[in-house]
Parts: sequence; structure tokens; C-alpha cells
Amino acid sequence: MTAKILSAAPVVEKFKLTQAQRCQALKGKGLTPSMCVVLVGDNPASQSYIRNKRRVCEEVGASFRLDQLPANIGRDEFLTHVERLNQDPGIHGIIVQLPVSEQLRDLDLPNLVTPAKDIDGFHGANTQNIYAGTRDLSLLLPCTPKGVIHLLNFYGYQLQGTTVAVIGRSLIVGKPLSMLLTNFDATVTLAHSQTKDIREVTRQAKIVIAAVGRARFMDRSYFDRDRRTIVIDVGMNSLNGKLTGDVDFEDVKDVVEAITPVPGGVGPMTVVTLIDNLISAVERTAKGIQ
Ligand code: GUN
Repeated sequence: MTAKILSAAPVVEKFKLTQAQRCQALKGKGLTPSMCVVLVGDNPASQSYIRNKRRVCEEVGASFRLDQLPANIGRDEFLTHVERLNQDPGIHGIIVQLPVSEQLRDLDLPNLVTPAKDIDGFHGANTQNIYAGTRDLSLLLPCTPKGVIHLLNFYGYQLQGTTVAVIGRSLIVGKPLSMLLTNFDATVTLAHSQTKDIREVTRQAKIVIAAVGRARFMDRSYFDRDRRTIVIDVGMNSLNGKLTGDVDFEDVKDVVEAITPVPGGVGPMTVVTLIDNLISAVERTAKGIQ
């Protein structure tokens, strides 16, 4: 068997068409969805992610602004900057691009952006919806988890009653994604660096989601060929200057049923979901929901 490639491209195309129409409708009401990314310093990986966000914004007719702040900015000045954006009626979505400089790391970063403009979906008021059991993907939920659900839906994989292994317990991916999958009635096992035998978990799951943050962490020994596993690779690691997933694609492609490519899989889904959150934020404001 050679694995089916779960490319983001057709999903992204479909989303962008709808997003362009939604933007058009909002513009008709005098509301152009506008996002602002706050970048502290000039991390090259961040610059590359930001370029992708800008490109998709422009493609669907949303407006994009980058506020680049000096790496050595003081805490008060940084907080004042974000607060000004919170108050600015011309900005509907705000992202504080991570990582930020050392002196800002112990700030309460997930809760700085006001919930109605929190298109990353990091604020406690937004993540609370996941813990409360929501299945409503029009809420401002974290982008990568939401993007993974959209990708699985698009390719027709059922979640109800399905065993899913999520590997990695980060605040941005592993934890919210495992909960969101649970809301869609999947049976989820969350494994991480302290799990005794990760293979034992992955070999028993129908869907395996790798969100470890280590290049080619999983080879074919993590998969049971007979189970016909669906693999979602969230990894965005740099290996010898190349974007590399958490799964060793070449090694596993003959033993799994389907796999997302890196690049071209989860990454573009995250960006398109972010734009979806931006447009939803404006639609919700227009309807007076938040
Ligand atoms: N840096 C890498 N991924 C992300 C993300 O999803 N949101 C923000 N704000 N920063 C990031």
C-alpha cells in the first residue's frame, strides 16, 4: 500500500472561496475584516509564518497590518501597544506572534488580547468553550486544532467512536485538540514525553496526530500496518534548513493508510483557519454577539 496524501490544497481552496464571499458581504456593510500581527524582534520563522498570513488575507480581501516592535521593548510599552489595539475599532483581530523576547515571556500572554479579537483562540474566555464541550467551529477556537478537525471532515474521516492518539500536550495544539476531538465523540489518548511506551499508544489508534516538535520523531515502528492508520503530522521543524514534520514520511508511507504532507498539510490549514477566525470575529461583532 502507498498512503493517500491528505493535502491541504483542496480544503484551502474551498475555504478561501467562502471566505472571499463573507469578506465581500461584510465590506458591503462598511466592515473590512482587518487583522494586526504584533511581532517582537525579527525571528526568521515568525517572519515566514507572517508572510503566509498576509498572503491569505490579501487573497480573500481582508486587510493585514504588521506592527513590528523592537526586540528590547519594555514590558509596559509592549502592554500599552496591545491595549491600544484592543481599543482600536478599525482592528478586528490581533495576534501576538510567538515566541516573544525573553523579558516578555512571563507576561500573561494568552490573555492579553481581548476575547472578541483573539483570533489565535488562546484567551481563557475562548478556550473555556472547548472545556464546556462545544462543537461549534464558528467560535474563536485555537487555529491548529480547528484546522485539523476541518481537514479530517473534508476527507470524510469519522470521529465518533474512533480511537485517536494525540502525541504532545502543548497549550496550543495537544491539549485543546485532544479535548475538541473528545467533543466530537472520538476516544482520545493523549501521550507525551513522559509516556512510557508511545508506540503502544500509536499502534492501537486509528488516527494518530503527531504534535511533538521533533523532526522525524516517528518512524514505521510507531504504526501497525493492519490498522490502516490515518496520520496527521503537525510538526513544523527545521532540519538542515528544510521544513520537516514529526513523522518520517518516507519511512512510513508504505505502512499507513493516509498521511498529511509537510509542507502542505496542517500548516496551510492553520493559516486558513486563522483567517476564518478573523472573519467570524467581525461577523459576531456585526451581529452583536460579543
Ligand atoms: N507562533 C507559532 N505558531 C503560532 C500561533 O499559532 N500563534 C501565534 N500567536 N504565534 C505562533
